[in-house]
Amino acid sequence: MAKKQEATYPPISPVPYHVGIIMDGNGRWAKRRGLPRQMGHRAGVNNIQPVLEGCVEFGVKVLTIYAFSTENWHRPPEEVSGLMQLLGYTIRRRLSELHKNGVQIRHSGRLEGINPELQEQIRHALEVTKNNDRIILNVAFNYGGRSEILDAVRQIIRDGIDPDELTEEVFSRYLYTGDLPDPDLIIRTGGEYRLSNFLIWQAAYSEYYTTPTYWPDFDKDELYKALAEYAARERRFGRVPDATPA
Ligand code: IPE
Ligand code: IPE
Ligand code: MG
Repeated sequence: MAKKQEATYPPISPVPYHVGIIMDGNGRWAKRRGLPRQMGHRAGVNNIQPVLEGCVEFGVKVLTIYAFSTENWHRPPEEVSGLMQLLGYTIRRRLSELHKNGVQIRHSGRLEGINPELQEQIRHALEVTKNNDRIILNVAFNYGGRSEILDAVRQIIRDGIDPDELTEEVFSRYLYTGDLPDPDLIIRTGGEYRLSNFLIWQAAYSEYYTTPTYWPDFDKDELYKALAEYAARERRFGRVPDATPA
């Protein structure tokens, strides 16, 4: 039987080093199929692995995924507990495979507020994978950009940092993302044009890409398209574009 032809992807340059994804649209994906929202979240979780593999293949080094925002606590309690359970389940089911594949897992967000058993699972996942270096999967869970900035300010005050010594670099190191470079590209699935409190400090100069595709349907072709669009953009960081030689 003929094997299905694997799609080939011409190399992209430059490849974004750090990609952030706002994985939105799970609820609408489920609704369109007449399914409960939780099924959309399940399908969404199942889509992380293939996109992560696509990132490895295309040369992305850090992938930050927005999985649960500080504002998502305002959803109905069954949905919140469904999302919490899903994280625990995913760690239990996928950790050894992720570890085997050289994935370093990180967490951005507040552990405080998450149930202690799940906190322990998260800590365990970070500890087990901390020396892996194939790709970093940074999971933004119980994450809010504003609470991140507040937490940083609180710690800076506690540490007695001299106000005159406080630079953007020093401040950045106090954020949950710590030593990670800023995201080069932020992808939002589900079609909305907003950051929803995602990496609001770090994304100051990120390129932004949105697609109407719901997260569970966002596949490798879609990822490639986003990366190719990124490669075609000109990042100026406030400067005048490079002069074209006369
Ligand atoms: C994103 O999908 C997942 C989380 C916020 C946890 P949504 O649940 O927001 O899906 P929509 O936006 O309602 O379709
Ligand atoms: C952003 O999606 C949060 C995550 C993807 C985890 P939301 O669905 O919560 O964002 P809003 O409410 O549409 O801004
Ligand atoms: Mg949404």
